[in-house]
Amino acid sequence: HLSVQDRIEEKRRAALVGGGQKRIDAQHKRGKLTARERIDLLMDPESFVEYDMFVEHRCADFGMEADHNKYPGDSVVTGQGRINGRLAYVFSQDFTVFGGSLSGAHAQKICKIMDQAMMVGAPVIGLNDSGGARIQEGVESLAGYADIFLRNVMASGVVPQISLIMGPCAGGAVYSPALTDFTFMVKDTSYLFITGPDVVKSVTNEDVTQEELGGARTHTAVSGNKRGYYFSITKTPKCVICPWVPQSCVAHRAFENDVDALLNLRNFFNFLPLSNKDPAPVTECHDPSDRLVPGLDTLVPFESTKAYDMLDIIHGIVDERDFFEIMPNYAKNIVVGFARMNGRTVGIVGNQPKVASGCLDINSSVKGARFVRFCDAFNIPIITFVDVPGFLPGTAQEYGGIIRHGAKLLFAFAEATVPKITVITRKAYGGAYDVMSSKHLRGDVNYAWPSAEVAVMGAKGAVQIIFRGKENQAEAEAEYVETFANPFPAAVRGFVDDIIQPSTTRKRICRDLEVLASKKQTNPWKKHANIPL
Ligand code: COA
Repeated sequence: HLSVQDRIEEKRRAALVGGGQKRIDAQHKRGKLTARERIDLLMDPESFVEYDMFVEHRCADFGMEADHNKYPGDSVVTGQGRINGRLAYVFSQDFTVFGGSLSGAHAQKICKIMDQAMMVGAPVIGLNDSGGARIQEGVESLAGYADIFLRNVMASGVVPQISLIMGPCAGGAVYSPALTDFTFMVKDTSYLFITGPDVVKSVTNEDVTQEELGGARTHTAVSGNKRGYYFSITKTPKCVICPWVPQSCVAHRAFENDVDALLNLRNFFNFLPLSNKDPAPVTECHDPSDRLVPGLDTLVPFESTKAYDMLDIIHGIVDERDFFEIMPNYAKNIVVGFARMNGRTVGIVGNQPKVASGCLDINSSVKGARFVRFCDAFNIPIITFVDVPGFLPGTAQEYGGIIRHGAKLLFAFAEATVPKITVITRKAYGGAYDVMSSKHLRGDVNYAWPSAEVAVMGAKGAVQIIFRGKENQAEAEAEYVETFANPFPAAVRGFVDDIIQPSTTRKRICRDLEVLASKKQTNPWKKHANIPL
């Protein structure tokens, strides 16, 4: 008979080794860390406070009631701690206990920290590594998922929610990450799918590996690029004609291994406010806010059809060139991500002239819209760099619903009430001009560089329509360029607030953000808006 104290100690010791050394070794052999090792890396040293170490599953079927099938803490480690001194709640699924599968007790533990995170206003980070629903528990496990899903939805827009997929995540389990704000993956060791390769084979007769079906590359890079062609990720990469362009990638970024992913997550966390009541964080900045960026004065090529890299502008302008890109391998014709300006977190959106001339298509619209809405929900100012020749034409885009998807980006920019600063670096053509955080959508400060061209379309297309069949097409084109291929038509109407020298852009934006920090703007009361989903 052990004393209570001894029993407490024994349970704690048992909880620390999860499913036992053999299974820990197996986890390590796959290049994966254990649930606790992951928390140790993610959280500041000594800061993690664990909850529910004594919780056990309550299943009494299939021999589960036996002592050797009970693990203190069950298959998930939960609690709160600090990341660079700031509070975060975390759950880390323990694959060494029943494959990290979700029992009723496991779900209850996750729900407990989610409830508390919402009450105190702190982000929730989920480290997912689970074989899905605890098969022995049946509906109790399914109920547990639904309890988590409900909380994911309630917490959406209240506290940031981040999922890091570090092993299997299959079946119903995928919907919790899908409901969170950001889903990151670990290359080669993580998978997300509704049903595994065996079920796929029996239903659709497709031969596909776990990696092809739901690995990191699939969820971060299967992109509908030009004209609806996309890269098939089956064994021999090939182009497939796909009229129904995939619309959005499931994961936002992939990392090399557990350590790389967790360190990146710490870095990423620093950009985020703790809740929707918190302002965007401001950190000490060693990069002068009035720094000129001379390289920008010559960055945009003289020929308006020549490409350049929008990332050069972004890196040049933000603090210490530090830019955390979201979805860097998906819909590359738009660039989105987080950076700081004079220490203050900002969200950056930029058309990418290097890919498909930076035009907007279905994927880039959805990618941009989701990012803008996250920034708006969490008080992060949005800086938009515009060089867009319009929306991508064609049957693939029209059949894919570019009208509805393009409207999402328009909707997101229009409803956003955070500070919005826009810089037109070159083209701002057609409806895309309106969409890209224009003055008309309540842009607070809108700038044009001298290279800006704000018009309904490019000179060639315009002249072909308004001077069809006429001689002297070249002359008409020159007249059109003279009239529209400059920033004045927008500037004389006050649609841009100033035409600025590119090298001064950082200085101007830093000053504007200072002023706009006290911006207050609200939308009319509503239960919720009806964004065109
Ligand atoms: N419920 C209960 N136990 C589970 C489980 C589940 N959903 N998934 C895995 N486990 C257990 C296994 O029985 C095994 O137990 P053991 O260590 O006592 O032998 C342990 O977790 C590890 O699983 P294993 O299958 O050996 O690992 P693996 O790496 O070869 O495969 C999976 C991992 C996730 C691909 C595989 O376990 C699997 O297909 N699980 C079921 C997935 C599923 O369909 N879930 C329901 C959908 S919601």
